[in-house]
Amino acid sequence: MPVPASAATPAPFLPFARPTIDEETISGVAEVLRSGWITSGPQVKALEAKLSEYCGGRPVRAFNSGTCTMEIALRIAGVGPGDEVITTPLTWVATSNVVLDVGARPVFADIDPVTRNLDLDRVEAAITPATRALIPVDLTGLPVDRDRLYALAGKHHLRVIEDAAQSFGSQWHGRRIGACGDFVSFSFHANKNITTVEGGCLVLNDEREAKLAEQYRLQGVVRSGFDGMEVELVGGKFNLTDVAARIALGQLPHLEAFTAQRRALARTYFEQFASAGAEGLGLLLPVRDFENSNWHMFQVVLPEERLTIRRAEVMAQMHAAGIGTGVHYPAIHLFSLYRRQGWKTGDFPHAEYAGRNLLTLPLFPAMTATDVARVVDRLTSILQAHAKT
Ligand SMILES: Cc1ncc(COP(=O)(O)O)c(C=O)c1O
Repeated sequence: MPVPASAATPAPFLPFARPTIDEETISGVAEVLRSGWITSGPQVKALEAKLSEYCGGRPVRAFNSGTCTMEIALRIAGVGPGDEVITTPLTWVATSNVVLDVGARPVFADIDPVTRNLDLDRVEAAITPATRALIPVDLTGLPVDRDRLYALAGKHHLRVIEDAAQSFGSQWHGRRIGACGDFVSFSFHANKNITTVEGGCLVLNDEREAKLAEQYRLQGVVRSGFDGMEVELVGGKFNLTDVAARIALGQLPHLEAFTAQRRALARTYFEQFASAGAEGLGLLLPVRDFENSNWHMFQVVLPEERLTIRRAEVMAQMHAAGIGTGVHYPAIHLFSLYRRQGWKTGDFPHAEYAGRNLLTLPLFPAMTATDVARVVDRLTSILQAHAKT
């Protein structure tokens, strides 16, 4: 008997992100679990070697989050009380929390509303004699202009901690992010382009820094011989497990294919939005970059002045239609922790507008062009239905 249209199976819920983990990786994790060595060991060493190869031979150390890698980079750079670190207000709050963690002061500079990354002219204007470092963020995987960034850092003798949490697989005009620059911090959180479930790594400049990173990673301990142990500084508990490292070892060979698929889906978004007349509805699309970005996320900015509903209602209606969306991120300086330090509404208008209206749409390698069409159709219908007249 034919199934009546109303009884057709609804499309499955489409999340905004979903990791792709193949069966070989799952078996590899089971082998590690059976091996008897499950915390930091040979898999972590193997992952660090592969990551170093990926980063042009630079030293790389793996950690249990991207957050701690930035804190450790600040410590290695000697940043602490009395120092200022300039970063973007439009990022995951980890980026500025680590500055507070080391006792320094985060200073924000507004974003460029087109790239949604730090506006480097504003960064230069925010530099004071107390500025010691910059933390640029490659939001959605779109790299900050590395040529201008390092020219600025060099001119003012500043260290750079690249918050490349979202840009593993991105490049800057042919150079992989991670293969050059000062400190580079990657996150391997579950939603990132490759994952260890939770985890990250830090790309360093030399073996001295790498040794320090190892000390900060595990209680400051330095081992020697069979039984030697010394502690010279206060470290934490930031080591990655072998179980987690094995996941990334299974993900790395797919990185290029993942990035290619993300780029293809992003192109489909642009095509579908163009045929749906989205720009006429006032929707702001991301920068069309198919050379540098790894398309970690596809974010649009809703035109709040042209809508009768706010972002939360748009998200609720998308959710009701079986489509997940996300917010990456609200402007950090408006959180009460940061307001208590003197930041206020109006300080960074571009970041505040983006923070209120950014919407992350589904994008992950296992998605199809049909999924993209479904998202675009739903979102543009919602915008049309709630346009101010
Ligand atoms: C821009 C940015 N910075 C820092 C982090 C922190 O990484 P983790 O969650 O691995 O600590 C993230 C992760 O979401 C991020 O997106």
